[in-house]
Amino acid sequence: IQSTIMLNNGTVIPQVGLGVFQTPDGETTANAVEAALTAGYRHVDTAMIYGNERSVGEGIRRSGVPRGDMFLTTKLWNDDIRARRGKAAFEESLERLGVDYVDLYLIHWPADGWQQAWDDLQEIYASGRAKAIGVSNFQQHHIEELSKNSDVTPAVDQIESSPQFDNQELIDFLATKGIATEAWSPLGGTGGNLLSDPTLAKIGAKYGKSPAQVVIRWHIQRGVIVLPKSTHAERIRQNFDVFDFVLSDADMAAVSALNTGKRNGADPDNFDF
Ligand code: A2P
Repeated sequence: IQSTIMLNNGTVIPQVGLGVFQTPDGETTANAVEAALTAGYRHVDTAMIYGNERSVGEGIRRSGVPRGDMFLTTKLWNDDIRARRGKAAFEESLERLGVDYVDLYLIHWPADGWQQAWDDLQEIYASGRAKAIGVSNFQQHHIEELSKNSDVTPAVDQIESSPQFDNQELIDFLATKGIATEAWSPLGGTGGNLLSDPTLAKIGAKYGKSPAQVVIRWHIQRGVIVLPKSTHAERIRQNFDVFDFVLSDADMAAVSALNTGKRNGADPDNFDF
């Protein structure tokens, strides 16, 4: 049975969701979303900039899973933040997805104007068309600035986190604020070498699980919401088959020891998009 987390506004989020970054629009995305929902996933995480919201909506409809039984996230892109288009961009996302609400709407990056975007998200939240709102790629100082100016605490911060770059200090800070962490590039990202690390294969062999399953399980056991991406139905199924084993404390520590402190993706304090 899949695990869930309760966000700070009472919304319940399934802990494993399908990520669709770098999943091409069209059949690839529609098939991946349909395969995930058929395999038991009840959580899909997209973004305007991924360019696949229409196909995400298509996959959801094809799966036959009722909208109310699943958790859907999308994100406000940087250009729309800078152009102060928060509310219009939200409407456009809903239209592409073919839904009348999302479960979670996020500020994608702390781009110039994010403070006003947070005001827009609060209005959207008040309207009921986003059941929860949050941020992504916010560092501690962004959260501190936000808290000074707003009574609404983000429900989540979606950040890079994997065994290679665990981001644990930020996660611990977020926990003190009641903000749940969502991990992007949880498997080390596309083109990464994490999954070929022999440590993961060795641990996996003990449980009859693959390196990817070990890493997903590691995220679950540290209380993080994990968004693995795959375009392959077999891997999508495999990545959800993680609720029938528990990593020992020693194995959790062995996975954590893979931390290099080096990011795989962009630095939220120095990005140029
Ligand atoms: P693919 O989409 O070709 O399956 P992240 O979620 O950290 O962004 O990493 C996803 C990367 O890991 C993608 O390149 C994806 O490739 C690959 N991947 C996802 N699931 C698995 C799996 N179970 N086994 C091996 N590779 C996987």
